[in-house]
Amino acid sequence: MISAEPALEAPQRRYDVPAHVGVIMDGNGRWAASRGLPRIEGHRRGLEALRGTVRAAIDFGLDYLTVYSFSMENWNRPVEEVADLMGLLKRFIRNDLGDLHKSGVKVKVIGGRANLKPDIRALLAEAEDLTKANTRLTLIVAFNYGGRQEIAAAARSLALDVAAGRLNPSEIDETLLAQRLDTAGIPDPDLIIRTSGEQRLSNFLMWQAAYSEFVFLPMHWPDFDREAFATALAEFSARERRFGGVTAQGRNGKIKI
Ligand code: IPE
Ligand code: IPE
Ligand code: MG
Repeated sequence: MISAEPALEAPQRRYDVPAHVGVIMDGNGRWAASRGLPRIEGHRRGLEALRGTVRAAIDFGLDYLTVYSFSMENWNRPVEEVADLMGLLKRFIRNDLGDLHKSGVKVKVIGGRANLKPDIRALLAEAEDLTKANTRLTLIVAFNYGGRQEIAAAARSLALDVAAGRLNPSEIDETLLAQRLDTAGIPDPDLIIRTSGEQRLSNFLMWQAAYSEFVFLPMHWPDFDREAFATALAEFSARERRFGGVTAQGRNGKIKI
């Protein structure tokens, strides 16, 4: 039994927790509405929850944490709300980048960059550049992200290679396509958590979630805390992952947090 090992106390990553957790941070608007507050207040409180989640991910020993912070479809929201969300991203990077760096967090951003304002593009590049050598936790921020668009872009990139005579179509397989995704080199998420009670992917990691476990929590994102995170990890540890086979595989030990 993994839980019996004293090595759990050691600072290195414990192998009975998932290596990679994806989080769909949903429900900020409803959290605010239920308190008679404007939606932006929910987003502000959501940012606080994100800070705590990153700290918890480090303490729990995860290798990768991917957070869905703005989808390509979120451009369909009122312009004021989009502006608020862009402002919060800037605030997060300006205020937190130093602390993230000191904590050994490597920041990576996935999603489209071309249609973002230059100041945001510059901040994202700065965050990635400053933290690129860190190894404690990789925080992947899915911003202006869409899973289908990511797969389409990967297909386009392969098609360009075929058209240029650099690639034979018969060589295209799932490994090659995965290498053209924004997440190239990052292991697939073991666990995806969604708050707010909705039970859907909303275009998050469409390709990468093929064999992910899902935990849906009824609470809204601003109420997500260390305890809720631990509950989701405990639920994950009780799951049996089969990957199409007949016996359980992967990390399924009991967790101690
Ligand atoms: C998640 O909360 C944050 C983003 C999508 C940016 P929502 O803003 O979707 O909150 P609800 O789902 O409307 O309550
Ligand atoms: C998904 O939440 C996107 C993020 C959490 C950033 P949405 O609130 O946009 O998803 P839907 O519209 O309810 O599916
Ligand atoms: Mg929502």
